[in-house]
Amino acid sequence: MVKKIHRAKPGNEVKGLANIRNIIAVGSGKGGVGKSTVALNLAMALQSQGATVGLLDADIYGPSVPHMVGKNQRPHINEDKSIEPIDACNLQVMSLGFLVNKQTPAIWRGPMASGALQQMLTATNWRELDYLVIDLPPGTGDVQLTLAQKVPVVGAVVVTTPQDVALLDVEKAVAMFNKVDIPVLGLVENMSVYVCSQCGHEDHIFGADGGARVAAAHDIDLLGAIPLQRNIRELADEGLAAFAQDYSVAKAYVDIASKVADRVAKCPRDYAVPLDAMVIEES
Ligand SMILES: Nc1ncnc2c1ncn2[C@@H]1O[C@H](COP(=O)(O)OP(=O)(O)OP(=O)(O)O)[C@@H](O)[C@H]1O
Ligand SMILES: [Mg+2]
Ligand SMILES: [Zn+2]
Repeated sequence: MVKKIHRAKPGNEVKGLANIRNIIAVGSGKGGVGKSTVALNLAMALQSQGATVGLLDADIYGPSVPHMVGKNQRPHINEDKSIEPIDACNLQVMSLGFLVNKQTPAIWRGPMASGALQQMLTATNWRELDYLVIDLPPGTGDVQLTLAQKVPVVGAVVVTTPQDVALLDVEKAVAMFNKVDIPVLGLVENMSVYVCSQCGHEDHIFGADGGARVAAAHDIDLLGAIPLQRNIRELADEGLAAFAQDYSVAKAYVDIASKVADRVAKCPRDYAVPLDAMVIEES
């Protein structure tokens, strides 16, 4: 039986949403480190453990989630203007990529950026989620500011690659989340070790243990390390998540998801949203 997932108190003191128990943001200081890949696979791994999970693509400038989940369709808009999430990979998924076409110039998106995150969050008809994973754009810009001020976030997962430059960017991301009172649930080191697709031998081309060192220096947990592996990228390009296809990688994502679920479960509960408070008192 699946144990009930409780509602944790958002770190940033924004009032919780009735239909979403726990919002987890996935961020990084630097682009291209694999946030979107980690966000999707983390969401699927949480779902595989019995949770109801959504994925919100907050990358307004370069939404990659529609491609990664292999969906290119318009969401249904209800009479009350609410938007039905797209069902993909056993998740409820929303992205600006479903709503605007590729030709929409980036310059129009700028002013929309901060508003778009909140609109997608509140206008989407999420059906009772245990977790909503938010895939952030790179860096510490407008969208992150909106997230901090308007979105009830329980905690953040920070993604990095093991190079020194990327690790410096981690410090920026961690400092940003600290400043806005969003607890950092932990660090994921992505593209950690290169695994040869021919013979399976492993090579630490970016050096070993960078993630562990930076995690220790900032007193945050290293949630896990995902190898740099050809099929993670190939599957993503075909609209297939590595989680559902590759057993060895799936296990690594499940470990990370278990730790994330554990951290959330240890956060103080949120009794401010009445429905959940009632359920919790029953047990
Ligand atoms: N562990 C991995 N092994 C191999 N390829 C990977 C791995 N993780 C991500 N990739 C690939 O690296 C590229 C960048 O990944 P992704 O889009 O997830 O990064 P991102 O941090 O979200 O980027 P952006 O900052 O542009 O949003 C993609 O082509 C993805 O398939
Ligand atoms: Mg991305
Ligand atoms: Zn080899």
